[in-house]
Amino acid sequence: MPKVVVLPGDGIGVEIVPQAIRVLQAVLKDAPLKIEFEEHLVGGAAIDALGKALPEATLAACQEADAVFLGAVGGPKWDSLPAPERPETAALLGLRKTLGLYANIRPVRMLPALVDASTLKKEVVEHVDMVVLRELTGGLYFGDKGRKENPPSAYDVMAYTEEEVERIVRLGFETARMRHKKLCSVDKANVIETSRFWREVTNRVAGDYPDVELTHMYVDNAAMQLVRYPEQFDVIVTENMFGDILTDLASMLSGSIGMMASASLNGKKGLYEPAHGSAPDIAGKNLANPLATILSGAMMLRYTFGLEAEALRIEQAVTTVLEKGYRTGDLAKPGDKVLGTKEMSDAVIKSLELFPRV
Ligand code: IPM
Ligand code: MG
Repeated sequence: MPKVVVLPGDGIGVEIVPQAIRVLQAVLKDAPLKIEFEEHLVGGAAIDALGKALPEATLAACQEADAVFLGAVGGPKWDSLPAPERPETAALLGLRKTLGLYANIRPVRMLPALVDASTLKKEVVEHVDMVVLRELTGGLYFGDKGRKENPPSAYDVMAYTEEEVERIVRLGFETARMRHKKLCSVDKANVIETSRFWREVTNRVAGDYPDVELTHMYVDNAAMQLVRYPEQFDVIVTENMFGDILTDLASMLSGSIGMMASASLNGKKGLYEPAHGSAPDIAGKNLANPLATILSGAMMLRYTFGLEAEALRIEQAVTTVLEKGYRTGDLAKPGDKVLGTKEMSDAVIKSLELFPRV
């Protein structure tokens, strides 16, 4: 039986992941495929129990599984640990690198029901529908880094191989081909050498995709364009750190970072997680928005298991609860019906009944 390793992690991760699993179980009841879920420790929780953010048993289970379903890692309790031991570095970056998950897919779509939840004007965000592809295993995050004495200094190297650029950019073209055939490659080629290299590789690969319109944009301009006129974007492809920053920014185009799902893929395996963090300030209070995690579950059914009908059922159920006016705190305006993490998930499960499997 195909297996998913479930890693709730820390903070709100332990609240949203079990709820998303309930949604997945509900939709899988009628699916043509049975999937086994196996929970493991990761992040601060694993440090406390076993002394390491990414214990061997967890990593081995992830390596064997068909997919990994993760909540969030990190929190104030572990912030003072040396960098290589911290949950974010050891667990999250460790998993990405070891599993070779180079392609991070973050869809940004404004659902009509949430237009008012965005801090941006309705006419700017109402038709937003884009996908951001972030390179996930290279660049500054993984380059040589360190400290020097005399004078005291620090460095992080940004480096990309041709192969690393080509595989993510190709995925960008393939994704654009399935959508509106527009790819925007974001870089800083006016200053940074890796960006000039990125641009050269992208232009060469473009030769294989004459049907896709390719544009290049500097990252500072891209940040501005994302809030000025976000509807111009179809697919964005960019390096690791630019993608980290731009996807947080872009999440507000769909109302809240609590809505942003993500898939990290390598062609064989996928890791699915909400794009937000462990939110220690609201953890343990049944306040977190579970929808990004639930929607990450839909991405898992689609990309790893080919269960398109089931993925659509989840997405339709989420759209429906929002259309009915249900909101978690992050999406609410004064006067809205505010639901807790569990109640919002109950509402999604109930809505699944409206969309029987066809
Ligand atoms: C993300 C997060 C992580 C990242 C952190 C928690 C290390 O911000 O997935 O976007 O920077 O990649
Ligand atoms: Mg981020």
